[in-house]
Amino acid sequence: MLDIFKFKKDTIKEKIQLDMERIPAHIAIIMDGNGRWAKQRKLPRTMGHRAGMKNIKMMVEESSNLGVKYLTLYAFSTENWKRTKEEVGALMDLVVEFINKEFEELHRNNVKLNSIGDISKLPEKSKAAVEDAMYKTRNNTGLTLNIALNYGGRDEIVKGVKEIAKEVLEGKLQIDNIDDKIISDHLYTSGMPDPDIIIRPSGELRLSNYLLWQSAYSEFWFSNINWPDFTKEDLRRAISDFQKRDRRFGGV
Ligand code: IPE
Ligand code: IPE
Ligand code: MG
Repeated sequence: MLDIFKFKKDTIKEKIQLDMERIPAHIAIIMDGNGRWAKQRKLPRTMGHRAGMKNIKMMVEESSNLGVKYLTLYAFSTENWKRTKEEVGALMDLVVEFINKEFEELHRNNVKLNSIGDISKLPEKSKAAVEDAMYKTRNNTGLTLNIALNYGGRDEIVKGVKEIAKEVLEGKLQIDNIDDKIISDHLYTSGMPDPDIIIRPSGELRLSNYLLWQSAYSEFWFSNINWPDFTKEDLRRAISDFQKRDRRFGGV
């Protein structure tokens, strides 16, 4: 899977050295700072979102080249509906634009497109584009690209709790058998490993309702760079720092 993207593979060596045996299986990114990126350039916020969207391709390529199995990108939170109608509309249109522009190449490179979050609340066009891309790439075996759309960690847990309660009521599940795994299995990320590292650019030091259950033992990596300026080198720096950390999972 490492040579799936044919470009610039040879340049990897001269960059930040990584231990290829210890590449994180799951990287999650909070794509934040688009608005500030635009403001610095006296551009409308939507231009920042467009620049942010353009940055995704590079991140997918680099992750895929490195052998990352899951890349989860926070694109729209359950709280982002609070923004103006114009901004929400622009973000929803960008979802369609991203898929139209990038689908062919993603598919060719064996990427499996997936969404996490309640996409039933998305405008029909955006929802249809996501569902179509997911369906067409469902058998791909390369990187899984999770786009978090109308995603909220609390909302996800509520959804899971309701499903579990229903199974108990229907007699399919015993209360005493509810454990960590049952809960994980009722989240959008069911069947996927928890994120090894969560990256947040833009200088904010919070999770903003991202992967609350899954981040129990994730390593956090923060940077002041706004998402549209975030480069492959920044991603490699995050992975390099991750590789220097001692993950103890409560042990010694
Ligand atoms: C992240 O950028 C994109 C979304 C939340 C959709 P922001 O729009 O939050 O950018 P800032 O935080 O205002 O700079
Ligand atoms: C988190 O960023 C959501 C996404 C990047 C999609 P926000 O910009 O919405 O987070 P807050 O409001 O600063 O916590
Ligand atoms: Mg923000």
